[in-house]
Amino acid sequence: QAVPRPGNESVRGYEASSPERAALQAEITRQSNQIVEIPIIVGGKEIRTGKLAEVRCPHDHSHVLARYHEATPEIVDQAVAAAADAWHTWSELDYRARASLYLRMADLLVGPRRYRMNAATMLGQSKTCHQAEIEAACEFADMLRFNAYFLDQLVRQQPVGEADPGVWNYLEYRALEGFIFAVSPFNFTALGGNLAMAPAIMGNTIVWKPAETQMLSAYYLMELYKEAGLPDGVVNMLPGHGPTIGTRALAQETLAGVHFTGSTATFQHIWKTVGENIANYRSYPRVVGETGGKNFVVAHESADAEALVANLIRGAYEFQGQKCSAASRAYLPASMKDAFLERYLAEADTVTMGDPTDFANFMGAVIDERSFRKISGYLDSAREDPSCTVMLGGNADRSVGWFVEPTLVVTDNPQNRLMTEEIFGPVLTVYFYPDAQYAETLDLCRNTSPYGLTGAIFANDRLATEQAYRALRHAAGNFYINDKPTGAVIGQQPFGGGRASGTNDKTGLGSHLLRWTNIRTVKENF
Ligand code: SER
Repeated sequence: QAVPRPGNESVRGYEASSPERAALQAEITRQSNQIVEIPIIVGGKEIRTGKLAEVRCPHDHSHVLARYHEATPEIVDQAVAAAADAWHTWSELDYRARASLYLRMADLLVGPRRYRMNAATMLGQSKTCHQAEIEAACEFADMLRFNAYFLDQLVRQQPVGEADPGVWNYLEYRALEGFIFAVSPFNFTALGGNLAMAPAIMGNTIVWKPAETQMLSAYYLMELYKEAGLPDGVVNMLPGHGPTIGTRALAQETLAGVHFTGSTATFQHIWKTVGENIANYRSYPRVVGETGGKNFVVAHESADAEALVANLIRGAYEFQGQKCSAASRAYLPASMKDAFLERYLAEADTVTMGDPTDFANFMGAVIDERSFRKISGYLDSAREDPSCTVMLGGNADRSVGWFVEPTLVVTDNPQNRLMTEEIFGPVLTVYFYPDAQYAETLDLCRNTSPYGLTGAIFANDRLATEQAYRALRHAAGNFYINDKPTGAVIGQQPFGGGRASGTNDKTGLGSHLLRWTNIRTVKENF
């Protein structure tokens, strides 16, 4: 029997006075009152270098949540050796054994481990309960289950031509020969999980470098893997300084692949380093990456203003605009301007910001000081640039946490840096275009950014929708019609973009797993 086709895990509401709310609240309190010491984990063993760095709570930066031991280049070598040791058994295991382990792991995650993962994500990454629940619990469980399903579907894909008499042809989906270097960002706990676990389901073993600012939830992911029965050495976690770990990992002869999500600059650096070392590798490493975006929303004059406003607010401000898919620039018809602004400002009044563990706020803080400074620079730019008017927010306050107000900027210069550069914060910039210039505006939108991640069109007029669908064909890997450009669901809207946004290998689609296998064709005369 095939792996059962998964449904998406249901998102829980955590209503006030529900048992779920009480359980999650208790776990938040527990995690708030301790400082976890996070080791390096290599081959299932804990390593402590004594060189410690802190994980602080973004919405209360005086609060230390954890301290982690930083890996050295020698420990990278040990992790590569541990991955090689584990590879022999893991890669030769029947694929059903790996699939069943993933199904079990997903059940554990959304069963007994759910509160732990959500609480760590809320405290460590400043997510609201809903934002944590949709990804740290539900999306990662979906990734595990769908990967098991996709694996099962993939191994059934066999040569299609009728064999000659006496001949049997078949394909074997082997692991890549070497280790995969997984590098994950802070913004989704589920990505910390999937960047390692998608390659691992194909029999690969992993050296994983989580973002320093994701270390709390990263540690609990390792706990989950162990509890689910993942063999030691399949995933080796190296906390620490990116360039130190990356340089050593990318120089290994057995590097078989890189699975990356993060900044465009880092991805380009990784690719160049792989290029420089290319003659030293045993095989050509697969390089899969998801990077930045400058995601757009275009509205036609026929658009439903209510839906437009509601989706822009969610798309731009949920998780403080730190989703790679977040709405960041909008092109709206000039005829809509007054009504739009009135509605937007009224609705934005409901966007509360503060401690996300209070179950009431819509937004928490941005991840760290570096991010706070970068976004503040764009707010300064908006205030100083005569082509810009700050209509909402525009301020940042670092006294307790890294708080940046939800901000709306209107500009009459569509080439302004707020319209063209990735900000990665809760800042939406709008350009109002003359209604008659819809076609030109679609061209402008397409040509303004080097990225190609997500985008949305709001229109009622079907011809206008089609016009955008065609004109923006290469401007976004995920294109939404009358919806926000965020919130892709595994198995429903496979996620990823091209151009400078990445290799578009589509998380949540079976073909993703092809990047992590090295197919052997066997012809047998019987
Ligand atoms: N998958 C997320 C979304 O669609 C972004 O990484 O919002």
